[in-house]
Amino acid sequence: MRRWLPLVLSVLALGCASTKASAKADATTSATATTDAKAAPKKPLFERLGGKPAVEAVIDDFLGRVAQDTSINSGFAVAHVPRVRQRLIELVTVGTGGPGTYSGRDMTAAHAGQGITNAQFDALVGHLVATLDKFKVPATEKGELLAILGPMRGAIVEEP
Ligand code: HEM
Repeated sequence: MRRWLPLVLSVLALGCASTKASAKADATTSATATTDAKAAPKKPLFERLGGKPAVEAVIDDFLGRVAQDTSINSGFAVAHVPRVRQRLIELVTVGTGGPGTYSGRDMTAAHAGQGITNAQFDALVGHLVATLDKFKVPATEKGELLAILGPMRGAIVEEP
């Protein structure tokens, strides 16, 4: 995994730099531009995050944080972690426009009966944010990923 990190980070850095560069170009040419003014279509979030190695690195770092958090790790202690890891990778890959399919249970079925609270959900999101910050994922991509996962709260949390 470590050998991917420099690649992941440089891809993220490149993504960031090109975004800034195109924004600057837009600003400087907008006064005269006609048909060129159309922005290039945005790449899928999966690609902007850095593809498979980046998603895997994010999930691994995130699961490491979850494993150390006693407020949320009791369920994971009895779960089959390699399977959950694989399904999380699939869920994020498919959810961000990457290839493949999600082979896991839906969010309601996967979490039913665990009595997961809003505070636990928030703690988990906090760990994901810490991971994304560690990998220097730009604010736009971070916001897009959180906006994909946030609406799953209703299916996962079991308190009113
Ligand atoms: C956005 C938030 C979350 C997402 C996207 C998510 C996603 C997933 C996925 C994809 C699985 C595997 C499903 C399967 O086995 O088919 C899973 C399982 C699991 N999740 Fe979550 N989860 C979230 C929040 C939480 C929270 C807050 C907790 C507990 C505090 C939690 C505890 C678990 C446990 C214990 C399992 C394993 C269940 C089993 O093996 O039977 N999850 N989750």
